Amino acid sequence: MQSLDVAPVGAHVPAPAGWWETWRERLQRRLDAWFSDPALYRWAIANPLTRWVTRRRTEKLFGLMAGFVHSQVLLSCVRMGLFVRLKEEPQTLEALAQQTKIEQPALQRLLLSAVALGLLEHRSMSRFGLGPLGAPLARQDGIAAMIEHNNLLYQDLLQPVEFLRDAWGGSMAGYWPYAHGKMPALDAAAPGGVALEPVARYSELMASSQNFVLQEILNSYPLAGHRRLMDVGGGKGRFVSAVARQYPGLELALFDLPPVLEVARSALQVAGLHSRVHLHPGSFLTDMLPSGADVITLIRVAHDHCDASVRDILRNIFQALPSGGTLVLAEPMAQAAGERPQPSDAYFHYYLLAMGAGRLRTHAELAGLMHDSGFGSVTLLDNAMPIHARILVGTKP
Ligand SMILES: C[S@@+](CC[C@H](N)C(=O)[O-])C[C@H]1O[C@@H](n2cnc3c(N)ncnc32)[C@H](O)[C@@H]1O
Repeated sequence: MQSLDVAPVGAHVPAPAGWWETWRERLQRRLDAWFSDPALYRWAIANPLTRWVTRRRTEKLFGLMAGFVHSQVLLSCVRMGLFVRLKEEPQTLEALAQQTKIEQPALQRLLLSAVALGLLEHRSMSRFGLGPLGAPLARQDGIAAMIEHNNLLYQDLLQPVEFLRDAWGGSMAGYWPYAHGKMPALDAAAPGGVALEPVARYSELMASSQNFVLQEILNSYPLAGHRRLMDVGGGKGRFVSAVARQYPGLELALFDLPPVLEVARSALQVAGLHSRVHLHPGSFLTDMLPSGADVITLIRVAHDHCDASVRDILRNIFQALPSGGTLVLAEPMAQAAGERPQPSDAYFHYYLLAMGAGRLRTHAELAGLMHDSGFGSVTLLDNAMPIHARILVGTKP
C-alpha cells in the first residue's frame, strides 16, 4: 500500500493559549472523566430530567454495536427479493417461507428484525408489507446494487485492525483497478492494460447508483447558459444522457479511460444518444483534456485519487476551459469544521480507504484545491440531499 494523504483535520482547534482555551481544555477533561463514570450513569437514569439523554446515547451506542447485524438484515432482504415481492402485495410468513424456501421460525426472525429497522411493517391478517425504509428499495435498483456491492467492504473489514494495516489486501481494491496511484497501462489494448470486464462491472454499478447524484446536480445547477458540457470521468454516460434529455440544445462530450468509453459507446447507442455525445478516450492524469467545453463536470472522481493526482486533474480541467468557463465538482464530502458530524462520513472514509489512494475531503479542502489550480470564485451550492453529493462550482477567471 503506497503512502496515503493525511487530512488536515483538527488544525482549526487552537492549542490552549489564553485563559479561555486552558479553562475549556480542563473542563473537557473533567467532562470526559465524569461521563465515563458508572456512577453518573446510575444517577442519570434515576433522574427523570436526565434519563432521556442517557437513554438516547445508550440507544445510539447500541446501534453502533449492532450495525453489522442491521446491514446483514438489509442484505438478506435484498438477496431474497423481499422488497420487490412485497411491493406487489403484503404477504404472510407462510407464503414468504414457501417462496424463499426458508424455514418459518428463522424467516420470522428476519422479518421481525426488518420490521424493527423500519424496512418492513406489520399489516392486517398477519401479513408483512413494505416499511418506510423498505419502500424506496422496491423500485430503486441502484440502491439494491450498492447494498450488494457493500458486501465486498464487509468482507474486507472482517479483521478490522488488520484492515488498517493492509487496506488494499481485500476485494474492494481489486474491484477498482485504477484507484491505486498512477497505473502503468490504462489502455485496454495495451499489454497488461485494464481488462474490459472489471471496467464494465464498476461502470454499471456507477451508472445504476448515479440517479440520486445527478438529480442533486441538475436541481441545483442550471445548465441553460452553457453551450458545451464535458463530463470528465463520466463512466458509461449516465449523467450526460440525463443532461441530453433535459437540455436538447447542449453539446455533450464524455472523457474517460478507453475501455470505459467502449462500454459507454454501447450504452449510448442503446439509448439512441450516440450522435449527441462526443467520446474522448484518455487518462486525465497523463493526457491533456480536449478544449471546447464551457462547462466541465467532475462527478465522484476527485475522492478516488490522492491530493497530488487531484491537483493534476484540476489543473488539466482548468487548462481545457476557456476564460469564464465553469467546473462543477460533485461528490460526497466530509463535514467541515463547525458542521455537525455525520455517521455517513464513517462509511465513506472506510470505503475510500479500501478502494485506493483517494479520501473523503471537506468542501473547504476541495475548494482550496480548486483555488490552487487557478479557479477564481468557488461556491458551495446548497443542495437538498448532501448525503448523495455536495456541489462546488468554480469559474476560470
Ligand atoms: C467512481 S467513478 C464515477 C463515474 C461517474 N462520474 C459517476 O459519478 O457515476 C470514477 C470514474 O473515473 C474514471 N477514471 C479513473 N481514472 C481515470 C483516468 N486516469 N482518466 C480518465 N478517467 C478515469 C473511471 O473510469 C470512472 O468512470
